[in-house]
Amino acid sequence: MTTPTTDSSQSDIDADGRVPDELVAAYREAGFVRVRGVLEPEQVERFRTCAEGFLEAHRAESLEKQGVFSQLVNVWQRDGTLRELTFDRRLGRIAEQLAGFPLRLWHDQMLVKEPHNDAATEFHQDRPYWPHAGDRLPLSAWIALVDVPPERGCMTFLPGTQDRTGLRPQDLHHEDDLFATDPSLRWIPRVTVPLRAGDCTFHSGYTGHMALPNRTDRARLAHVVIYMDEETRYSGTEHIVTDLLGLTAGDRLDGGIFLRPWA
Ligand code: SIN
Ligand code: NI
Repeated sequence: MTTPTTDSSQSDIDADGRVPDELVAAYREAGFVRVRGVLEPEQVERFRTCAEGFLEAHRAESLEKQGVFSQLVNVWQRDGTLRELTFDRRLGRIAEQLAGFPLRLWHDQMLVKEPHNDAATEFHQDRPYWPHAGDRLPLSAWIALVDVPPERGCMTFLPGTQDRTGLRPQDLHHEDDLFATDPSLRWIPRVTVPLRAGDCTFHSGYTGHMALPNRTDRARLAHVVIYMDEETRYSGTEHIVTDLLGLTAGDRLDGGIFLRPWA
């Protein structure tokens, strides 16, 4: 058995800003992968301080009212420092390396589990919530801005479930909803991925996942950048990011707020 690493200075990213082929292969097989050290310690400090201030100022706008997390969407449009994080070239290029095709920004989210929130984000897939059509597999970068051990609310994944397209949207407040939707997922071994501050996981839009409750005295601060296939079209269904854009079903989601700043 190998000894688990606890070195917070490790990075999986090489001098060209790429991740090794093994991590790409792991993402393609399992539908998620951990990438250590996507942010330098000074960047973590700067983005975390900024995220904390932003949260204080905007907490009341959280989309989520049931205590699972505080959820602030498209923070890049309102804060220049957080925009740097969402637009980070290294992150965007790694996302394209993993996906294997060009991506655009779909949106970002600040997802905060308050101290002792004691509520899990229950198992779900992300892509069924989105008004997308004609797209290849999208993916999200979930970046830890503080250390996130299991007891602070790290993510747990269902490996290999990225091929389960076509399921209805699942209720992330109900423990059993994803499994009721597709009972074959119930017995898949689950993988829990603790992260050090500055590490991230990438997961595909169809990979089943949940986040554990925060049982600690410190807030769990995660910044999530969500990338979509550059070919993605609008499906016509409701979503907070697209509702006010005056789109017609079939329109391509490009230009405007759907940028590619890492290109
Ligand atoms: C969470 O961080 O609580 C959930 C993240 C996700 O569903 O992608
Ligand atoms: Ni999710």
